Amino acid sequence: MPVADLAQDVNTQAAKTGAPAAAPAPAHVIVVGCEKGGSGKSTTSMHLTVALLRLGYKVGTIDLDARQWTLTRYLSNRAATMQRDRMPLPMPRHFFLAPSDKVNRNEAQEEDRARFEAILGRLTAEVDYVVIDCAGTDSFLARVAHSYADTLVTPVNDSFVDLDVVAHVDGRTGEVQRPSVYAEMVWEQRKARAKRDGGSIDWIVMRNRLSNLDANNKREMGEVLEKLARRIGFRLAPGFSERVIFRELFLQGLTMLDVFDQSHRDGGAKPRMSHVAARQEVRALINSLQLPERAPRRS
Ligand SMILES: Nc1ncnc2c1ncn2[C@@H]1O[C@H](COP(=O)(O)OP(=O)(O)O)[C@@H](O)[C@H]1O
Ligand SMILES: [Mg+2]
Repeated sequence: MPVADLAQDVNTQAAKTGAPAAAPAPAHVIVVGCEKGGSGKSTTSMHLTVALLRLGYKVGTIDLDARQWTLTRYLSNRAATMQRDRMPLPMPRHFFLAPSDKVNRNEAQEEDRARFEAILGRLTAEVDYVVIDCAGTDSFLARVAHSYADTLVTPVNDSFVDLDVVAHVDGRTGEVQRPSVYAEMVWEQRKARAKRDGGSIDWIVMRNRLSNLDANNKREMGEVLEKLARRIGFRLAPGFSERVIFRELFLQGLTMLDVFDQSHRDGGAKPRMSHVAARQEVRALINSLQLPERAPRRS
């Protein structure tokens, strides 16, 4: 068949299936969620975003935390640094979405869903990865977002106090008693996702603010999390240690990954050992997410 005819044929097929011919695959959606404030969702979202940008991918970000807007503030600090210091930095296409203020619950939910799907639809057609930063509380918007996750990343502070966001554990025996309401919500959204498009959600739990000071706590947490992973259906990723570098660059809108790149480019401040170790942790997280291989989009 001549090439022109072949192209025609592909386009007719595409018209039948409703998919544009040879369009790049829609973006892979990473949701960062956990029904607890301060577990490291926004920190993780920002570091994942910058890591993917620096690998050459186009990234879209959605901030769903209308109480804090942490990711939005982090990125606007980044934009200010770019302008003030004339520093070229890769930026994601960013949206923030507050819940509907409609009084009627059904109408509010309908509006939330429609707005979210409009933003996500636009982003998945334009970028390689979408990173969604959720609020630390249950909300309709967060549930809808979870149902669209290809990968769900849940950071948990490395303390037994915070473990109950995943499951309730017997204090004496360390046995798992029952999944948490959050784990049940993830289960519901896995079903919603499968029903909508037959897809599945790869759920990854990562420990955050790991301390070298309390080796016993670290080991015991590790053992309980291994048990939970099997019972509840998630994978464990190596986490982030407690490091000042994960928070000290917020006001400049930077991460240690930017510091490395800038120092190579213009002989700026040299990265310290803690930067190297932190960068390694971000890379290890990206590796363990096992994101599908894709060629970066060109604009
Ligand atoms: N690994 C870490 N090391 C040091 N500080 C951290 C780390 N992870 C988070 N933080 C700090 O903890 C606080 C809460 O983190 P944040 O990412 O805003 O959590 P969330 O979005 O889940 O509410 C912030 O001040 C953040 O800078
Ligand atoms: Mg946050």
